[in-house]
Amino acid sequence: MSADNIVACLLALVVLMSPAADALDNGLALKPTMGWLHWERFMCNIDCDKDPDNCISERLYMQVADVMAKEGWKEAGYEYVCIDDCWPSHQRDAQGRLQADPQRFPGGIKRLADYVHSKGLKLGIYADVGKNTCAGYPGSLGYYETDAQTFADWDVDLLKFDGCYMDWTLLGEGYVNMSKALNKTGRSILYSCEWPLYEWPFQKPNYTAIREACNHWRNFADVYDSWSSIKSILDWTASHQDVIVPSAGPGGWNDPDMVFCLSHAQQESQMALWAIMAAPLLVSNDPRDICPHSKELQDPLGNQGYRTAKVDNFELWERPLAVPGWKICDPQCNVTQILPQYKEMGVQTPETQMVVSVNPSGTALLTITPLQKLYWDTSLRRKHTIL
Ligand SMILES: *[C@@H]1O[C@H](CO)[C@@H](O)[C@H](O)[C@H]1NC(C)=O
Ligand SMILES: *[C@@H]1O[C@H](CO)[C@@H](O)[C@H](O)[C@H]1NC(C)=O
Ligand SMILES: *[C@@H]1O[C@H](CO)[C@@H](O)[C@H](O)[C@H]1NC(C)=O
Ligand SMILES: *[C@@H]1O[C@H](CO)[C@@H](O)[C@H](O)[C@H]1NC(C)=O
Repeated sequence: MSADNIVACLLALVVLMSPAADALDNGLALKPTMGWLHWERFMCNIDCDKDPDNCISERLYMQVADVMAKEGWKEAGYEYVCIDDCWPSHQRDAQGRLQADPQRFPGGIKRLADYVHSKGLKLGIYADVGKNTCAGYPGSLGYYETDAQTFADWDVDLLKFDGCYMDWTLLGEGYVNMSKALNKTGRSILYSCEWPLYEWPFQKPNYTAIREACNHWRNFADVYDSWSSIKSILDWTASHQDVIVPSAGPGGWNDPDMVFCLSHAQQESQMALWAIMAAPLLVSNDPRDICPHSKELQDPLGNQGYRTAKVDNFELWERPLAVPGWKICDPQCNVTQILPQYKEMGVQTPETQMVVSVNPSGTALLTITPLQKLYWDTSLRRKHTIL
């Protein structure tokens, strides 16, 4: 095995759930959210004259909705088409409401939401708890109720609420006030926060309060298109898992940020690890590219996984465990490899030894199910090695 290996083993399908603390009661995000978000791939490209195909405009989201509806994304569970920063005009309207940039969104957000809904999908929008968005557009500070009502009037389904340009001592208040403002509109709008990400540099966030206010929350820096970025997210998650893992469960999730297209092995690793983290799967790619539609990896059980071992660059991650580690195989368990290729490995006991080989920065993903009924298979008498 190469020293560069990162491995993730998923021990899933054990049902005893320990319910996390009270979640935001808006009926949403009972499973981690799945969808598409423009940021990592398209960023703040607003030059529609030079780059009409890739600029942040209603056309981009309509095309994405078309592809998601037509090419099986929707069936695979991807539901939300999400706008990130750089959609609004630099000025609020005469009533103090946010408005979409009139050149890039000539039909306005309400018409875009209608279009996305007509494809059986949902629309997400972006705003910021502070004075400005991260890219310098108007922030919602002082306008929480107005903006929540505007998004509800537009029939928006999800709000990603960023944390730039905000006094950190007011972060919690701001996120909670927006949560209340969204509730007050009477429309169920999934609420995606970045509260802990912006609070960690100053103090340990209160995850009980965060879970009460938000459907998911970013903890750590933006992901960017490289394996080292993914590794740093995994390292951060593993070193804070005692704090963050207990806060995840139906209604509220830790969000390690977007997934996207990397090398095949790395892409599989990212999908597998995000699944173990019970993470929202918000893909950021060009919809014309092909990315894995791995709904099978998105198990709705609701317990976030842990890293349980790290030896050099080899890591073992498990999710979720009703019984510790390999005790799940006592007396017998059924093992199936999901990645890199599907392989039924059959009935195992605590005595059997399995060896799985992994490519550098690749992943082997296994599901291990305890067996109620014992199988007397003579082949189990010898130790076997599976390569
Ligand atoms: C608002 O909050 C109440 C109480 O938590 C909840 O019952 C209700 O469903 C919420 N409404 C929306 C639209 O989220
Ligand atoms: C949150 O709402 C409370 C109660 O209305 C208000 O006193 C406070 O200033 C608000 N905080 C922020 C950051 O908007
Ligand atoms: C964390 O938030 C919860 C819920 O809002 C609150 O009851 C608790 O007192 C807070 N804990 C701390 C240490 O501030
Ligand atoms: C083990 O799992 C595989 C794949 O889900 C299934 O086809 C097979 O029947 C299972 N075997 C037992 C003994 O449960």
